[in-house]
Amino acid sequence: MILLLGASGYIGKAFAAELRRRKTKFIPLARKQVDYTRFDLLLEFLRRKKPSFVINAAGYTGKPNVDACELDKAGTLLGNALLPQTIAHACAAAKVPWGHISSGCIYSGAKVTVRGKVRVEKDMTRPELHALAGKSPEKIHGFTETDTPNFSFRDLPCSFYSGTKALGEESMAGIGQSYVWRLRIPFDEFDNARNYLSKVQRYQKVYENVNSISHRADFVKACLDLWELRAPFGTYNVTNPGFVTTHHVVEAIETILKPKRKFEYWKSDTEFYKVAAKTPRSNCVMDVSKILAAGVKIRPVEEALEHSLKNWKSDSFQP
Ligand SMILES: NC(=O)c1ccc[n+]([C@@H]2O[C@H](COP(=O)([O-])OP(=O)(O)OC[C@H]3O[C@@H](n4cnc5c(N)ncnc54)[C@H](OP(=O)(O)O)[C@@H]3O)[C@@H](O)[C@H]2O)c1
Repeated sequence: MILLLGASGYIGKAFAAELRRRKTKFIPLARKQVDYTRFDLLLEFLRRKKPSFVINAAGYTGKPNVDACELDKAGTLLGNALLPQTIAHACAAAKVPWGHISSGCIYSGAKVTVRGKVRVEKDMTRPELHALAGKSPEKIHGFTETDTPNFSFRDLPCSFYSGTKALGEESMAGIGQSYVWRLRIPFDEFDNARNYLSKVQRYQKVYENVNSISHRADFVKACLDLWELRAPFGTYNVTNPGFVTTHHVVEAIETILKPKRKFEYWKSDTEFYKVAAKTPRSNCVMDVSKILAAGVKIRPVEEALEHSLKNWKSDSFQP
């Protein structure tokens, strides 16, 4: 039996659906049933129920977006840094392996091949780099699991949310047996305030950048596959292979969904941060060779994007 924490959340619901599809027994635990953020209560629950594996889909994301985390720093720290540490110690004490949902948002930019040398570029909005992403995608590489986060409290600037997600990874390191699964900008075919494709369609103006993104169902399948394959514990980037530019996503929406609206772009970072965003946003490319080498299959990002838009369910909107 698997214990699923945060089953009521956007990602937790996808885990619950996939576990049901696989006919895997699981307990979806909410804080109002057992306050699993408390070490003593969680440990007692683990010892009593003896799950074979724990999934932590709980965390503090900030709604409607990460700007909200700047206004509740205590809650953000508790949900993203202290909670994984608490779960790590409780699972280690009960000898239960577990998986934690982290985020790719602890990185900024990409690695770029320039004149035969690879270097990190933190800001892919620079025109020459953005053009390179369109013309020569083979020259853009993602951050690997061994790269030190460059959008964290140790490498400022970062958002408070990203800082706490990086702290969360540090806080559980070396304690017991665990996976760190890095999710990045979830999307799928179900219209939802948390879905990247819904957000792009509803933004007043869109922000041009380069990103790896994760199809929600592909993400949870890949995480569960790692556990079922008994892949080595450790950190895995779990995004659909490849990356997208915002332009690419907007073009796909225009071609497939044919919306009535015209998409406008923020003219510059200055305009975007003056009008639409308060805290710095992470935009980054992730390398997924580690999870693919572990034997997990994930569709390329273009395929997942096209499939989501061709199967778009706008009547499912959840605010
Ligand atoms: N959505 C994204 O864009 C995204 C991207 C990358 C990574 N992630 C990570 O994925 C995980 C799940 O995110 P999500 O989008 O599913 O979040 P969500 O919809 O807000 O759900 C999170 C769940 O966590 C539980 N929780 C436990 N402690 C909490 C706290 N202190 N504050 C708020 N909620 C708390 C709540 O469940 P109960 O009250 O029922 O226990 C809540 O339903 C998080 O760790 C997040 O950082 C999300």
